[in-house]
Amino acid sequence: MKIGVFDSGYGGLTILQGIRKRMPDYDFIYLGDNARTPYGTRSFEVIYQYTLQAVRFLQSQGCRLIIIACNTASAKALRTIQQKDINPDEVRVLGVIRPTVEKVAQLSRNNHIGILATPGTVSSGSYVIELQKQFAALNRPIRISQQACPMWVPLIEAGEQDSPGADYFIGRYLDLLLLQDPLIDTIILGCTHYPIVLNAILRHLDGRDINIIAQGDIVALALVDYLKRHPEIDKACSRGASCTYLTTESPEKFVDSARIFIKEAVKAQKIELF
Ligand code: DGL
Repeated sequence: MKIGVFDSGYGGLTILQGIRKRMPDYDFIYLGDNARTPYGTRSFEVIYQYTLQAVRFLQSQGCRLIIIACNTASAKALRTIQQKDINPDEVRVLGVIRPTVEKVAQLSRNNHIGILATPGTVSSGSYVIELQKQFAALNRPIRISQQACPMWVPLIEAGEQDSPGADYFIGRYLDLLLLQDPLIDTIILGCTHYPIVLNAILRHLDGRDINIIAQGDIVALALVDYLKRHPEIDKACSRGASCTYLTTESPEKFVDSARIFIKEAVKAQKIELF
């Protein structure tokens, strides 16, 4: 059985990369809904419907473990899918928000947390709710500031991440976040696309002592831990060190753009979600 990894587009490749570093022997299917990306500016109903279609598709490919490598889909659709749409005896669906929140509590020294994410993730309030729970359990106060970055995903998906336009919008959203709370000591990159612009983010922060949380390795470690706790699922995972790439857009476009995210040549197949 292959492990399914899903994102609205290319961003989930940053998660897949982290997972494959920790679990090089396992087999994966990556599904990018590139034809309908970005999800971040869409309504709850639409994101839920698209994400459920992707889960059903990966299930039809034999995946019994699926990682929603997309914060927007994790924030808007994961809980409903887990509670209403799937039978956990048949398939397990995991997201990226919980493991990220646990990491924040380990890293922050002053409890001033910033979140950069898509408009969908910000408006869902998912990070705020999960962070408040986590810090309350640790008996720590917390101050949370969120900033939506609606331009980042379209710029990255268009391959414009190194352009002057991207640089302008990276600086703009960071400034807006730090204006809300200049004491922020930990920033969550709450979108799986954002590690692609990590260098530009660091450049704009200009040596400020702020933890930047990218999710690839965090989600990978959480998955390793999950499989340890569920040996029956681990046993069912095949180990041929392969990854099949599926996209709802043109495979040529996927292969071309995927080079930004993964430094190896890949082949892709086109599929349809409905
Ligand atoms: N990469 C996705 C995330 O982590 C969302 C990108 C989008 O489709 O807006 O939120």
